[in-house]
Amino acid sequence: MADSKASLSIDGNVVAELPILKGSVGNDVIDIRTLGAAGYFTYDPGFMATASCESAITFIDGDKGVLQHRGYPIDSLAKQADYLEVCYILLHGDAPNRTQYDEFKGIITNHTMVHEKLVHFFHGFLPDAHPMAMLCGVVGALSSFYHSDLDIHAPDQRMRSAHRLIAKMPTIAAMAYKYSIGQPFVYPRNDLNYAENFLHMLFSVPAEEYVVSPTVARAMDRIFTLHADHEQNASTSTVRLAGSSGANPYACIAAGVASLWGPAHGGANEACLTMLEEIGSLDRVDEFVAKAKDKSDPFRLMGFGHRVYKNFDPRATVMRDTCHEVLSELGIKDPLLDVAMALEKVALEDNYFIEKKLYPNVDFYSGIILKAIGIPTNMFTVIFAMSRTVGWIAHWDEMLGQPGQKIGRPRQKYTGEIDRKFIPLSER
Ligand code: SDX
Repeated sequence: MADSKASLSIDGNVVAELPILKGSVGNDVIDIRTLGAAGYFTYDPGFMATASCESAITFIDGDKGVLQHRGYPIDSLAKQADYLEVCYILLHGDAPNRTQYDEFKGIITNHTMVHEKLVHFFHGFLPDAHPMAMLCGVVGALSSFYHSDLDIHAPDQRMRSAHRLIAKMPTIAAMAYKYSIGQPFVYPRNDLNYAENFLHMLFSVPAEEYVVSPTVARAMDRIFTLHADHEQNASTSTVRLAGSSGANPYACIAAGVASLWGPAHGGANEACLTMLEEIGSLDRVDEFVAKAKDKSDPFRLMGFGHRVYKNFDPRATVMRDTCHEVLSELGIKDPLLDVAMALEKVALEDNYFIEKKLYPNVDFYSGIILKAIGIPTNMFTVIFAMSRTVGWIAHWDEMLGQPGQKIGRPRQKYTGEIDRKFIPLSER
């Protein structure tokens, strides 16, 4: 329902009356759907000021550093809920009661195994294949195992796909890691919780008993929560666009994995740790901050800046606290943490970063925690993708549940040639 209107006039003539729509919070939106009929398109490369959809899942206020999932603040969820509770909240809208939680946990636990034939997909990869390349391929292939459950217009089948994906991503992620280090795949165990199970599948070996550290499991679970969803980011928008054509959920999630891989997005955590290792010591921090400010140098501080947050990314704050907790509880003194904290201090006091409102984002500290847990850098984005699967599938499900859902098909500002006479090759 329009609350007010915007009149678009060009050269003094009103060409369109555009309804202004209000959400429950955040910016009002100008409904420009009638603009095409008036002979105009809007132009917004990178979607800097475009609301692509209506959603009730996650709200971000970039100026205030606010992130809420279904209205619950991220720091409360990270400190008081576990990842499966957050998955339930993202999928169903409210925090589960004990019965709902236990039932949901039971469903996820009982979907953690993968079809034994899936193992063969891994053996087509070279040993040095990047785990993200394996994840892209194997997740897309999952659809070949569930032909009977791919009616995207059936809410129960959509939810079963969501359960399968949330449950199987850790198993597949751990298989990618085990394949890359030449160790045997480890089956999931139903007596372990989600984070413990992932660590078990990552680190246990047939030769000896692996005992999961409660500190590490708690940190892992919190990392999952901090990466679970984030409004219409690039990979979530990719999943929505793929899903709008009616593609099956496994193909859509594989598209999300591919989009997340980029260093400007989910690949930043791996790039950030590589950057910290390149800086190496406190006395080189100023040199790299200068590089980041040098317009002629393509170098950017990985883990800094955000399209939406022009204040602290609330996830980075929780991640920094978790980083200190994990390192001190594990008795690890990592010089990279000192470098990261010095880099953060220098950047936050530097006018370039202040003026451009560049703050640490979710990827700045996560890599140090993952390294402390013993996870190699090429697995960092895999863990981000695993965590974000619930956000992707929640948005996919929300979109398909909305009436009047249409295929996404943006237009363009065409700047190429027009009406050229074609001369056949024989005459050119
Ligand atoms: C994620 O969208 C999401 O919600 C993403 C995410 C999620 O949960 O899904 O939050 C996860 O992707 C976090 C972001 C991880 N990426 C990085 O840490 C990579 C480094 N940061 C950037 O490349 C950049 O900040 C982006 C991509 C995150 C945001 O880019 P924008 O919004 O397109 O901004 P921009 O590139 O136009 O930068 C604005 C200015 C530019 O300078 P000017 O051209 O105005 O002179 O700030 C500068 C940039 O050069 N700038 C940086 C910088 N980031 C931006 N300068 C130095 N170091 C940086 N990191």
